[in-house]
Amino acid sequence: MLPKKVTVVEVGARDGLQNEKNVVAPSDKIAFIDLLSESGLRVIEATSFVSPKAIPQLADAEQVYTRIRKAPGVRYPVLVPNLKGYRRAKSCGADAVAVFTAASEAFTKRNINMTIEESIATSADVVRQAKSDGAWVRGYISTAFGSPFGDAVTPHMVRDVCVKLVELGCDEISVGDTIGVGVPTQVDELVPLLAREMPLECLAFHFHDTRGTALANVYAALQHGVTIFDASAGGLGGCPYAPGATGNVGTEDLLYMLAGMGIGTGVDLARVRAASRFIRGVVDHELTSKAFQALEANG
Ligand code: HMG
Ligand code: MG
Repeated sequence: MLPKKVTVVEVGARDGLQNEKNVVAPSDKIAFIDLLSESGLRVIEATSFVSPKAIPQLADAEQVYTRIRKAPGVRYPVLVPNLKGYRRAKSCGADAVAVFTAASEAFTKRNINMTIEESIATSADVVRQAKSDGAWVRGYISTAFGSPFGDAVTPHMVRDVCVKLVELGCDEISVGDTIGVGVPTQVDELVPLLAREMPLECLAFHFHDTRGTALANVYAALQHGVTIFDASAGGLGGCPYAPGATGNVGTEDLLYMLAGMGIGTGVDLARVRAASRFIRGVVDHELTSKAFQALEANG
């Protein structure tokens, strides 16, 4: 029993552009997001209010967030690692934020210089403030399928972090395969475990496609009734603190597969492709999405 409808969360402007070698100009980021806003996507992650020393690529978060054209009915979440980031986001008018932790201690240390426990405590402060301001909150669990630093990650470790984020009051949990090592049988094991702790309709998956398993993992999750998937236009992305991590599942790839399976998204693939074409010209390298490449090859 597959779902009839899926929500696609576009993360290219954040996950994608945080990983580009060359910093993309704010005006290009804004133009990219504005093109994505014309595609029917209902959720477009816009940027991160993190330390500019940690992610110089997104140091222009204020400029980008305040200048994008916000389409009615579209949510534009932003990443915030701590209260400082939350205050910056709020002062720009952000009403949807994402806190982030991970299942791997080693990754959490490198990514945000905290233990998992410290990151949950820091997230708790953010979620409390965000909720009292009426904001919507997503919680990310990175490295849920494996760590780039060799420390073991088990489904029960992911479940334990998930429970804590749900207790904080996150509206949605996105479970990330940060380095694209996951396989469908892992998804089969993880979803029932998480579904016992939270409503399935609030569970998202965030698959990077480093080893070509992202769409297979999406299909596995669909079979368990998961209806929210993160993707990035053209397959942009990666995490600078996860060596070797490449992009998310391409939005075009995900849309192509879902459309072919008769699953509705409300997103116009041609318009996402137009946004990808634009950003390809800016980043000046080929994009990895297979469906994007096939469309380009056919003119
Ligand atoms: P730290 O150095 O331990 O923290 O960094 P600190 O509190 O000592 O702050 C250091 C400096 O940063 C200070 O400035 C702070 O004021 C400043 P200084 O006194 O040196 O001039 N600072 C900030 N500035 C602006 N905005 C802020 C902020 N916070 C502190 N919010 C910290 C800890 C968490 C801040 C840092 O490590 C950080 O920002 N990390 C973010 C890393 C990141 O963004 N990684 C990528 C996103 S996660 C990801 O990609 C995975 C995901 O896609 C899911 C998946 O794929 O699985 C979501
Ligand atoms: Mg990611």
